[in-house]
Order: sequence, then C-alpha cells, then structure tokens
Amino acid sequence: MFTPYFKQGDPVMGRAKITIVGAGNVGATTAHWCAAAELGDIVLLDIPRTEDMPKGKALDLMQSSPIMGFDSNIAGTTSYDATADSDVVVITAGIPRKPGMSRDDLLSTNAKIVSSVAEQIKETSPNAILIVVSNPLDAMVQQVWKVSGFPSKRVLGQAGVLDTARYRTFIAMELGVSVEDVAALLMGGHGDTMVPMPSCTSVGGIPVTRLMYRSRLDEIVDRARKGGAEIVSLLKTGSAYYAPAAACAQMVEAIVKDKRRVLPCAAYCDEEYGVGGYYVGVPIVLGANGVEKVIELDLDADENAAFRKSVDAVQELVAKTEELMSVG
Ligand code: NAI
Ligand code: 2OP
Repeated sequence: MFTPYFKQGDPVMGRAKITIVGAGNVGATTAHWCAAAELGDIVLLDIPRTEDMPKGKALDLMQSSPIMGFDSNIAGTTSYDATADSDVVVITAGIPRKPGMSRDDLLSTNAKIVSSVAEQIKETSPNAILIVVSNPLDAMVQQVWKVSGFPSKRVLGQAGVLDTARYRTFIAMELGVSVEDVAALLMGGHGDTMVPMPSCTSVGGIPVTRLMYRSRLDEIVDRARKGGAEIVSLLKTGSAYYAPAAACAQMVEAIVKDKRRVLPCAAYCDEEYGVGGYYVGVPIVLGANGVEKVIELDLDADENAAFRKSVDAVQELVAKTEELMSVG
C-alpha cells in the first residue's frame, strides 16, 4: 500500500518553516512569492471564522508547484498548533484601508488583532523572527514587540522595501532604464512623512541628481509617498498586495538564507539616530538573526528635519496605541 512520504504541514528536514498570519491578499501573495522562490515550508493561518479558506489557498498554491517547479510544503490552518516552532512569522492579520481612509484609521482594530497574534506566537514559536506588515505599520511593530517580549532584533516591520520599490519603479519609468539599475533608499515611518534620500539614490552608480532635475525628482518622491493611496483609489476594495508581498518575501529570503541584505525596514532604534526607543524605517543589515545592524548615516539638515518629523508622527501613533490598549 502507498504511504505518503509527507502530508501537508509535515515539516521537511533542512527547510525553514515560515508562518504567515492572515491569509488575505498580502498573506496569500506572500506565500505565493515565498513558495515560488523555494524559501521553505509555509503555514498560512487565518481566524476560525474563515473556516477552510486558508486550507483552500494552501492546497491551490501547492498544486501550482509541479507547473512552476518548486518544492514547498504549504499548509492552511486556523490553529496555532500547526505553526509551532516557525523560524519566521510574517504578520499580515488585520483590516486594510478603503478609499478615503488613512493607514492610521486602522489603528484601533489592528492594534487588538496584532496583540492577540503576538500573544499566541510567543507561546508557539518563541525563537521566531517576526516581520510585521499590518498597518499603521510602525505602531503595529512596536505593539508586537512589546506584547511578544522578544529581543528587538527579532521583531521588525515591512514598509521601506515597498516604499523604496515604488520610488525605484517610478525613477526607472522616468529614465527608461532597468529597475535593476536603480538603487535607492527611503527612511522614516510608513506614512505621508516618509523621507526620500536623493543623496542615496543612484542609477547604474550615477547619482540620480545628475540625471534629472531636482524638481522632477521631488514629483517622483511625492508619487512614491502617496503610492499606497494611489493603489487604494484604483482598487476601491482594499489596498496593494503584489508589491507588499514581494517585499515581505525579499525580507524572508534575507533571513532564511542569511544573506545580510542591506534593506530599509522598520527597526527598533534607541540611540540610533537619537530616536529614543521606537520602531522607524532605517537601513539595516538583515540576516539569520534578524536585525544584524542598524546602519547610521550622517543626515544632512533637510534629511534630518524630515526624519525628525517622521519620528514625531510615529511617536504620536504609538502613544495613541498605548492609550487604546490600556483602556482595553
Ligand atoms: P485582507 O483583508 O485581504 O487580509 C487580512 C486577513 O487577516 C483576512 O483574511 C482576515 O481574516 C485576517 N485576520 C483578521 N484578524 C486576524 C487574526 N486575529 N488572526 C489571523 N488572521 C486575521 O487585507 P490585506 O490586503 O492582506 O492587508 C493586511 C494588512 O496589511 C492591512 O492592515 C494592510 O493595511 C496592511 N498592509 C501593509 C503594507 C505595508 O507595506 N506595511 C502593505 C499592504 C498592506
Ligand atoms: C501600502 O502602502 C497599504 O500600506 C499599504 O500600499
């Protein structure tokens, strides 16, 4: 009689275990990109109310593997037991914004959701590295870090990889060059105050300011800054997910392959940049231990002023979150 070598959800030796909490648009698409890149075995978790939805998405995705040519055991679940001992957990649980809403309008609902996720993950995967995606991003990472009690280097947030990818896309479109040749950096919070860094933007090694007028670059920066809202206004039913999920997969890859990628992520900064104990977007070295290092740059006067403004906005959101969670 034929005995299956493994069932869906069985761990496979030598492969990383990646849990994705929230099997909606960003979560399921992150599973897709991670599986296609063979980053490990994947558990896709959602709330019991969704019943078999995560199982359906996981099975569908797994059945694409013979066509796409990847080996990844993908399971869907509504129980944290199946997520036990994950190496990486990507938290996408929460509500997305609709037209007319800002990311901050999601705070009261998502703060409770990410807190309950962090409570469960700390019990089932105490050694995992957590990548938070739920919005408003910077305040939600801070909340997950606080509730999990994990060391700060094992909790970080995805925003900068996405925001920078939007900025890089628009620069490549403007100049008619490959996106692969555009290297760039955006810092600060994931909101309207995010800080572009023209001094850290280059195309094939050429500073971008030698290729276009500053006024045009400012317009591109503004579009990148409003990139999330532009997609929301087109989709009308939710927010972006292909690019956000690709950004998550790039961060997962940096961790499970210990690539030590230099990426802009929401990382805990205390003395770094004089932030004083908040999560905010900064360039980091991302590897097997999570945040291996926060890279500190000397900011010029304009960059510094914009960065401080962004940190202030993050602090305000964190204070609102703390107030909300203290009254239950
Ligand atoms: P979605 O609505 O498609 O999926 C969210 C999923 O979370 C749903 O399936 C829902 O059932 C699930 N969920 C809700 N409560 C849960 C809980 N307690 N445990 C487990 N799962 C739970 O939304 P989408 O588009 O996937 O967005 C998810 C979040 O990510 C939103 O807050 C959105 O604003 C944020 N986001 C952040 C980005 C970033 O760059 N940081 C980019 C894109 C989205
Ligand atoms: C974005 O920037 C919604 O935060 C999400 O697309």
